[in-house]
Amino acid sequence: MTVNGKRKVFSGVQPTGNMHIGTYLGAFRNWVKLQHEYEAIYCVVDLHALTVPVDPAELHRNRIEAVKVLLAVGIDPDKSLVYMQSQVPQHAELAWILGTMTPTGVLNRMTQFKEKSARAGANLGLYSYPVLMAADILLHRADLVPVGDDQRQHLEMTRDVAERFNNRYGEVFPLPEALIPETAARVMSLTDPRAKMSKSDPNPRSAILMLDTADDIRKKIKGAVTDSEPTVAHDWDAKPGISNLLELMSAATGRPVDALVGEYAATGYGVFKEAVAEAVIELAAPIKARYGGLDDKEVAVLLEKGADDARSSAERHQAEVRAAVGLDGV
Ligand code: TYM
Repeated sequence: MTVNGKRKVFSGVQPTGNMHIGTYLGAFRNWVKLQHEYEAIYCVVDLHALTVPVDPAELHRNRIEAVKVLLAVGIDPDKSLVYMQSQVPQHAELAWILGTMTPTGVLNRMTQFKEKSARAGANLGLYSYPVLMAADILLHRADLVPVGDDQRQHLEMTRDVAERFNNRYGEVFPLPEALIPETAARVMSLTDPRAKMSKSDPNPRSAILMLDTADDIRKKIKGAVTDSEPTVAHDWDAKPGISNLLELMSAATGRPVDALVGEYAATGYGVFKEAVAEAVIELAAPIKARYGGLDDKEVAVLLEKGADDARSSAERHQAEVRAAVGLDGV
């Protein structure tokens, strides 16, 4: 879908607090780049955050914090539309319609549903989470969706639902493509390099937060779980901890993994970990500094305008969906 000759990019982040470096490298970094070439729409998906139990005051705080992190990483409100999902009711309406054409067999296979329901218990919202996510993307007729590797399956499902809708009702939705980075698409936990770095991990040493101090970052990387054979090499099977740090450093510095292996193969893990820590500190410092200068009131004003703009665009698009399925007028 092109508007003023520009294709559309859409993506979302859950306001679940503890924004970590994986979120930045896997997703936000591409969001920032793409806002210069695309019509960019970025959404704090607060309805999604309700799918696991959350304290209302904490959710309220995390929503604003998430927007501030987006601004701090370089999302420019003059270039990108930024808004809160719950302020645009068309998301939920489209999710209902798409839900009627999503086989439960497909939802049963969703990896994230299986993992989260095993941890927090299943509920209907968690089960239909991918349908709401498909609605987020399709509501805006997005062409491109920059995400980390863990969202790949949800994106495939979104395309399938869009195709099913188009086959039944006519060409309404473009088929969105996922944009997943080559390195650091799945940043792993520092305490368990076989598990994804995750906002919900209760161990604070497992993740480098974007607002961590330099000292925190040094301590966490120094304590990162590695193996006992001291050669720095990129091998996810034999050396997941070191491979994770190599990808982190490569993504932070822009240097290829091979070059880093060449430089650190023989230095031992201590020297290598110090270099990784300094690279990550350098990456995070400007973000942290910008975050500190942001004002909650200005953010609230920006969100009000964002919601207005998103609602009017969403309503125009939803009118087309209603007409297509026979729900327009009386
Ligand atoms: P969320 O909030 O868990 O994460 C936001 C983005 O960060 C990426 N990410 C990672 N990338 C690399 N390594 C990691 N360890 C890591 N952890 C998180 C995620 O892939 C994501 O791109 N379901 C989505 C939110 C969503 C959405 C959407 C995204 C709802 N609707 C529509 C795109 C389009 C999620 O839970 O992201």
